Amino acid sequence: MRTISEAMNVAGLFSEEELSLLAAARQAAKRAHCPYSHFAVGAALETDIGIVLGCNVENASYGLSCCAERVALFTAVAQGATRFLRLALSCPATAPDAPVESRMPCGACLQVLSEFLPLETPLLIDGVGKKQLKELLPYPFR
Ligand code: THU
Repeated sequence: MRTISEAMNVAGLFSEEELSLLAAARQAAKRAHCPYSHFAVGAALETDIGIVLGCNVENASYGLSCCAERVALFTAVAQGATRFLRLALSCPATAPDAPVESRMPCGACLQVLSEFLPLETPLLIDGVGKKQLKELLPYPFR
């Protein structure tokens, strides 16, 4: 059975190739450590060394938690990636009638991504569509 996000995606938001990166992000969300928020997030970052996955990793000291996008990016950098081509992001448990904002990357992650990803980089957001990084963060801090 398809999730609501998957059904929305099939409505023509993404190409087959993009859908497979989104599927990887959805898989990554299954590894989320989110006992406090119960909100699992998965990210799949396509790079010159391959696809690198991330999930949110929370901590009992809440502020130390790290978002899925940053886990994916930092892992990729640590593994030697130098080119960052596309990022897929999924919050698979988001309710179908939830506001679009509950599926979007947070501002902190956008700033961190802008350190490494060109502003034209496509962000594939599950159940939403494709946005360029610069559409969500037009003026990153430099
Ligand atoms: N979260 C992400 O992983 N990425 C985002 O862009 C927004 C929020 C995580 C952080 C926390 O573990 C949970 O979602 C609820 O905020």
